[in-house]
Amino acid sequence: MSVSIKNVSHSFFTKSELHVLENVNIDIKGGEFISIVGPSGCGKSTLLNIICGLIKPIKGEVLINNEKITDLSRALKHNLGYMMQQDNLLPWKNAFENAAIGLKLKGVPKDEQEKIIRKWFHIVGLRGFEKAYPRELSGGMQKRVALVRTLAINPSIILMDEPFANLDFQTRLLIENDFIKFVKELKSTVIFVTHDLTEAIILSDRLALMTARPGTIKKIYTIDIRRDDIFKMRYSPEFSKLFEEVWSELSIEVLKSREAEIEEGKVEEKKRKIVVPPPEL
Ligand SMILES: Nc1ncnc2c1ncn2[C@@H]1O[C@H](COP(=O)(O)OP(=O)(O)O)[C@@H](O)[C@H]1O
Ligand SMILES: [Mg+2]
Repeated sequence: MSVSIKNVSHSFFTKSELHVLENVNIDIKGGEFISIVGPSGCGKSTLLNIICGLIKPIKGEVLINNEKITDLSRALKHNLGYMMQQDNLLPWKNAFENAAIGLKLKGVPKDEQEKIIRKWFHIVGLRGFEKAYPRELSGGMQKRVALVRTLAINPSIILMDEPFANLDFQTRLLIENDFIKFVKELKSTVIFVTHDLTEAIILSDRLALMTARPGTIKKIYTIDIRRDDIFKMRYSPEFSKLFEEVWSELSIEVLKSREAEIEEGKVEEKKRKIVVPPPEL
């Protein structure tokens, strides 16, 4: 399923106008995996909320398979799965019930639900935790339940907002690997927000770099590094070259965004001298 983001601009109006997105344009082909990277506060989560119809932009539009998205229900008709940044589980439901919510809504029979969730819990390392309640799970485990909830319905379009942010390194590697295999088999279109440049390059066909707020697309990179082994890929010369290229642009935006925060008085004066460290490889 294709997704077209056309001339999207957005502002929030609280005490004053906060101009968050400015004329964002991206055309995403069906089955494509695109990452969106940009400084914190540049409007990435807002953009995902606009794509799925949760927020109506003040200008522009989003089309899924050429149909204009006017609200969430229209986006859901296209079999869209969304793992939000603060994707809370229902505290009164156990891990299995939380993970199976989407399947239940779709009317999938109970025994089929069990089969699917069991398979996914095995993949993400949650086997044996089906009956645990969210309060009994670590933050990383709760994230994995939310991940299963999103993927269990075999979505045609997947929106993900920093989905692997608080997983430990080993778990993250395994899940990234299975996730990429899954979406390629399913031919899902993926729009993936991450602050982790390594992850963005390793997983995506293209990477859209956003500017500091108001966020707009600064550059779109095509990633055609061989992806036979996503672990080894990060040590290839092509990877390093692209990483440096993107980071040289991204770091400018991160600094701009920090300067703007200082102007707005959000960061104390004494932190002004902090330089942005290069991210870990
Ligand atoms: N519902 C809202 N009302 C007012 N301001 C908001 C709202 N949602 C987000 N913002 C502000 O808009 C800016 C962009 O937010 P967000 O899209 O979450 O950025 P990102 O995901 O890139 O970190 C931030 O300054 C945030 O505080
Ligand atoms: Mg965000």
